[in-house]
Amino acid sequence: MNLEKNIKGKINACHLLKGFKDILPEEAVYFDKIVTVGERIAKHYGFKKILTPVLEETRLYRRTTGDGSDIVQKEMFSFTDLGGDQVSLRPEFTPGFARAYSEHGMINLPQPVKLYSVGPLFRYEKPQTGRFRQFWQLNLETLGEKNSIVDAQLIILANQIFKELDIGIDIFINSIGCHTCRKQYLPILTRYLRSKKNILCENCLERIKVNPLRVLDCKEEQCQEFLDQAPQIIDHLCEECQQHFTQVVEYLDTTEIAYELNPRLVRGLDYYTRTTFEIFPKAEERGRQSALAGGGRYDDLLENISGRAAPAAGFAIGIERVMAKLKEKQPDLKTNKIEVFVAQLGVEARKRCLKIYENLIQDGFNVAESFSKEGLGNQLEAANKAGASFTIILGQKELLEKTIIIRDMESGVQEIVDLEKISLELKKRLEKQKIISQQS
Ligand code: HAM
Repeated sequence: MNLEKNIKGKINACHLLKGFKDILPEEAVYFDKIVTVGERIAKHYGFKKILTPVLEETRLYRRTTGDGSDIVQKEMFSFTDLGGDQVSLRPEFTPGFARAYSEHGMINLPQPVKLYSVGPLFRYEKPQTGRFRQFWQLNLETLGEKNSIVDAQLIILANQIFKELDIGIDIFINSIGCHTCRKQYLPILTRYLRSKKNILCENCLERIKVNPLRVLDCKEEQCQEFLDQAPQIIDHLCEECQQHFTQVVEYLDTTEIAYELNPRLVRGLDYYTRTTFEIFPKAEERGRQSALAGGGRYDDLLENISGRAAPAAGFAIGIERVMAKLKEKQPDLKTNKIEVFVAQLGVEARKRCLKIYENLIQDGFNVAESFSKEGLGNQLEAANKAGASFTIILGQKELLEKTIIIRDMESGVQEIVDLEKISLELKKRLEKQKIISQQS
């Protein structure tokens, strides 16, 4: 093997790629919590899980995410595969869901078809806080339904996920209309932007040529005042788009959910029509933090990839960003608290404990062990570190007498019980502990 060496003759160690992130075990508890809560709520709303490939044809993203988007213009991990096909690592889920929906004839199923997924996405962005080149999303799409109730329900669902995670959010919504409204609005916007040519930043000047709507999304300080005064698409919606947006807002008004209208919320992807929305941490906790989630309606996307039209809407939550927020709120989060630690003394007891451990898992306990350790002291220390509620101890004497010791890790009180009844005895004690903690 030819190992690269540095000038001192040492082997050049391998490193994580720039913009990529390891989610270490202590962080993975936050990841799991978000996914568990998100998946449970998604399922309650009738969403079914779909797993689409990480690699797709590049043209799928060109036709959907769009040539006018930063993602397609400069952020895709694209390459020619060994067979000569142009392929890309998915920068977002939505196009893959839409392709699967049309390719598997889901249009013929009762509509809407509600799908969700969790997985990694890839964008060659400039790495910074909360912005990675590989990141994870929980993504939900409602395909095959144009009714405005879908848009409102997606916002309600997203709100519910954040509520359950106990993360305070601000929701911003807008409508960017359809092609009819934009035909009328874009020349008005472009005229205004051109009149501010001397003031706007270089990026805006570039965007005026490619995608003038995206200019409204600029975050540069120098552009803000002029963009706030720009003509708003909301004032130029066609009758149908106006009605759709009014209905979305009316549906939301029947709930407790607070939202704010943001006429500059155009989103960075080309396919949106009508409703767009984004979710941020609450203003007082936001700082320069970017969106936790975003989505909207995309009634033209499916026709662009399959030739057959179907309306759709969806959103995605950025898992790393929500993890960071959750960590701030709950620094000690421990999921799956260890209920029982299994300790053993002696070779025969260790053998028996393998089976006891397996049985406890089957009986639904959260268990831990450190069978490779000798001595009770070491094992009790490991049980303490694991935060176990009870440790069960099996030695030679107990083995002969067909008993086992249960130690309450908080009080240190030990009791001898019948080995055959260990599950029952543990359940009783855990139940009692739960009642006491609920009362205090
Ligand atoms: P997006 O706004 O590009 O929308 O991404 C959604 C969320 O993913 C963002 O709000 C953010 O939390 C997270 N995110 C995006 N880029 C990064 C990054 N580089 N590093 C870390 N987190 C990131 C979409 O992806 C649309 N497909 C959403 C959608 C679904 N629209 C309709 N259906």
